[in-house]
Amino acid sequence: MSDSRVALITGANKGIGLETARQLGRLGTIVLLGSRDQARGQHAAETLRGERVDARFVPLDVTNSDSIAAAARSIERDFGVLDILVNNAAVMFHGEDGLASTTSMRIFRETFDVNFFGMIETTQAMLPLIRKSPSGRIVNLTSNLGSIAEHSDPHSSIYHVKISAYDFSKVAVNMFTQHLAHELRDTSIKVNAAHPGWVKTDMGGPHAQLELADGARTGVQLATLPADGPTGGYFHMGVHMRW
Ligand SMILES: NC(=O)c1ccc[n+]([C@@H]2O[C@H](COP(=O)([O-])OP(=O)(O)OC[C@H]3O[C@@H](n4cnc5c(N)ncnc54)[C@H](OP(=O)(O)O)[C@@H]3O)[C@@H](O)[C@H]2O)c1
Repeated sequence: MSDSRVALITGANKGIGLETARQLGRLGTIVLLGSRDQARGQHAAETLRGERVDARFVPLDVTNSDSIAAAARSIERDFGVLDILVNNAAVMFHGEDGLASTTSMRIFRETFDVNFFGMIETTQAMLPLIRKSPSGRIVNLTSNLGSIAEHSDPHSSIYHVKISAYDFSKVAVNMFTQHLAHELRDTSIKVNAAHPGWVKTDMGGPHAQLELADGARTGVQLATLPADGPTGGYFHMGVHMRW
């Protein structure tokens, strides 16, 4: 049974993106699983369909303008509207020391290409479809590693966790969230940033604190906010974080 809402989740072939699609799908939302790899995307959609979720694979590499434009066209053709956009796709490169002074420009550029520029371009392409929704929701997956307040607090658990390229990209995601929410403040569209927590995924690793089901919870909450819900915020499990 569908509630007829349509959601696009980027990077939904695994991890928090796939779990977000699963949880939204269980609410009756039609979930479009963005994946840059066809086989992985189709497999993920088949898995969710096996769980009675209305899931469909959408080819989407957020670093490829043609791919983004094609995804927007296919959603326009098939649904004419997009109710929920979850900007989830991201990368975190290991193998360098993560320091601001020595991280290579290649790592900075590749990280920003996916985590920041990909998010902006995908959002800009989808926004005309989201504007057609009576209650558009945009959720940008960020991190507590994107909080300048946390990084500058010696008592914070992340004070010594410095992964420069990733951290900088998530600060930018937070500012993008703020600016877009301000721009859309007089519409019904809500734009928020979600810190999922430290989650057991390929990115979070096996020692992370949260299981996937809890890791997707913040994003799902923000994707399903009621009309009087917040916009322009930075949340973890319903609690506003320090920017
Ligand atoms: N896990 C954590 O502890 C944690 C903590 C804070 C924030 N987050 C954030 O939560 C989000 C999801 O993280 P995760 O832990 O689920 O990561 P993950 O398991 O590594 O999954 C990342 C997803 O992004 C996709 N992706 C990467 N580059 C892409 C591109 N160019 N186009 C489209 N998709 C692309 C990946 O696709 P492929 O399979 O093709 O690589 C994969 O589906 C990210 O924004 C991350 O920064 C995670």
